[in-house]
Amino acid sequence: MIHLRNGGTSLVIDPTTPGLPTIVHWGHDLGDAAQADLDGLALAAEPQRVSGGLDVPARLTLLPLDAAGWLGTPGLEGHRSGRVFSPSFALSTVEHGPSTATITAVDDHGALTLVVELEVSDAGLVRQRLSLTNTGPDDYSLLALAATFPLPAQATEIMDTTGRHLRERSPQRRALTVGTHLRESRKGRPGADATLLLAAGTPGFGFERGQVHAVHVAWSGNHRLAAERTVTAESALTAGELLAPGEVDLAPGATYSTPWVLGSWGDGLTELSARFHTELRSRPRHPQRPRPVTLNTWEAVYFDHDLATLTALAERAAAVGVERFVLDDGWFLGRRDDTAGLGDWTVDPAVWPHGLTPLVETVTGLGMEFGLWVEPEMVNLDSDLARAHPGWILQPGGRLPVEGRQQHVLNLADPDAYAHVFESLDALLVEHPISYLKWDHNRELTSAGDARTGRATVHEHTLALYRLLDELHARHPALEIESCASGGARVDLGILERTDRVWTSDCIDPLERLDNQRYTGLLVPPELLGAHVGGPRSHSTHRTHDLDLRAGVAFFGHLGIEWDLTTVDDDQLAALGRWVEAHKQARDLLHTGRVVHADLPVATADLRGVVAQDRSRALYAYTQTATSLTYPAGRVHLPGLDPDASYRVRLAAPTAALAGPGQSPLRWASDGARSTGRALGTTGIQAPVLYPEELVLLEATVIG
Ligand code: DGJ
Repeated sequence: MIHLRNGGTSLVIDPTTPGLPTIVHWGHDLGDAAQADLDGLALAAEPQRVSGGLDVPARLTLLPLDAAGWLGTPGLEGHRSGRVFSPSFALSTVEHGPSTATITAVDDHGALTLVVELEVSDAGLVRQRLSLTNTGPDDYSLLALAATFPLPAQATEIMDTTGRHLRERSPQRRALTVGTHLRESRKGRPGADATLLLAAGTPGFGFERGQVHAVHVAWSGNHRLAAERTVTAESALTAGELLAPGEVDLAPGATYSTPWVLGSWGDGLTELSARFHTELRSRPRHPQRPRPVTLNTWEAVYFDHDLATLTALAERAAAVGVERFVLDDGWFLGRRDDTAGLGDWTVDPAVWPHGLTPLVETVTGLGMEFGLWVEPEMVNLDSDLARAHPGWILQPGGRLPVEGRQQHVLNLADPDAYAHVFESLDALLVEHPISYLKWDHNRELTSAGDARTGRATVHEHTLALYRLLDELHARHPALEIESCASGGARVDLGILERTDRVWTSDCIDPLERLDNQRYTGLLVPPELLGAHVGGPRSHSTHRTHDLDLRAGVAFFGHLGIEWDLTTVDDDQLAALGRWVEAHKQARDLLHTGRVVHADLPVATADLRGVVAQDRSRALYAYTQTATSLTYPAGRVHLPGLDPDASYRVRLAAPTAALAGPGQSPLRWASDGARSTGRALGTTGIQAPVLYPEELVLLEATVIG
């Protein structure tokens, strides 16, 4: 038996099962288990032969196939002009260390070699990647290759997220019954409706309770995630790239590798999510310096670029403590609205007669960094680029795809198109001190083919995008990039290997953001989640909210402002400045600590927070999302503290003065109350009486 252990996770693989090896345990660390105990674990997992079934009971192997009796969805689908439709692999070699294994299997008849790489990371995540090599004399057409993560029998409820533009990451749950729950992206990007995680756990699992397992595909193109349960009482999460017909035809000797698929587990979603956060924080290019408070010009001025207005905005931004000023869409040739200009990445002299330099100098002179919006993969037909190179547009051959936001996508797999995009971006970065690119992507890919061959090319295009980002980083090592795709339509660990922030949603209504940030945050740690304070009236929902709610919800992420500050009065500016200052004081905690969410018994309140890794302090936000039935609302618990330590808990600035309709002062709020982490995490504290859609910050500091 192979026992991989790391980061509190054990993965036990039985290499002796018919067909290919089988994972017989994924989850709790089994300790330094004796080989005999592992043998017993594997033996105890063997199923019986049953009436009506095959003579060899099927196993959910690392690549379940019908050749070994598996009659659920196969892990591999493909053919050689119709032949080799049922590959059959024999185990060839198994190499493993304490936390990694490489398993090779060969189908001599089908002339295919499979390599499965498995790793249990320091964060306790299981990483899995499959590679298939064509060792035959003719092409092998690959249709599907997926990684398999078996689920424990208790995992009978699944949770994923769906959504749309302006409402990404809405959770949905259902029972994991016999059959397949399939989530696919066919958009050339994960999509606003994409689930970042497909999770399955014990019924009713929440953030604080219930064992739960989940997988994620680290890939920015098309993908497929499934939760499948069979009548043989096996269930699994499977994941891989979704391939179009003919997209991957393996020539003799060629290899296809799946993206990395990551599996996490926890007793509750908080633990599951913390593994992803730890993993991301250990990336070589994870931001090491404090996340600069950002002002983005989009909702302040939209396409209405004017040096005098933007200069005034920059001055106001600097005055409230902004550290990075990002000029959004509208600065380049012909871009007066969203119908023209994409592809022509030179400054439009009609609006910027002296170029960007005067604004850049104002911004940097005020002590802020300068950032710029780009949408490098896209092209409007109304652009010099499209007129000169119509063949660079992704298309199925003979016709253009249906338009989205009046635009098309450039085929980055075409070396000439790639060189144009790289050189345009490089020229901008060389000419101006741009420390940050907001990299947008505002249409879904449809009929995405290569005009030169007429073949589907999302796979090659996605790899070329990664090369482009890598090459830009190599030439401009200090450059930071934000992944934006009409908000949160491209959030995945493939793009996050190469970017430093995601634009979580175009909707910055704080009430909407509570769910959006909670569920995007299952995968992405707060320091990478773009979270902005908008104007009083949300542009996307037309709801109006006080500054404390807008700022308090954005406070925990990578804080920004997207509000026309030239229209804001001095009192509001001063209040905004206090929030910015409070964020700067707290961001070392907010951006390194452990994110927690309380499973509250009511839907009218929300409590979330960040606890320092050494549990010496924590900051929580308590939000009254709607009127509560009970009045006062009752007690609320503070998760994540050290049960054996004592803490002082009180309201934190800038919300220390309660605005709610309480009739008498809440003594703990002003004086502070002392209690143990165990009591605070279970019995809790009396929640302040708040008006609906109000928020307060609470802090807990260890005593002694
Ligand atoms: C979509 C983005 O999500 C917005 O923030 C903004 O950058 C617009 N595109 C600009 O066109």
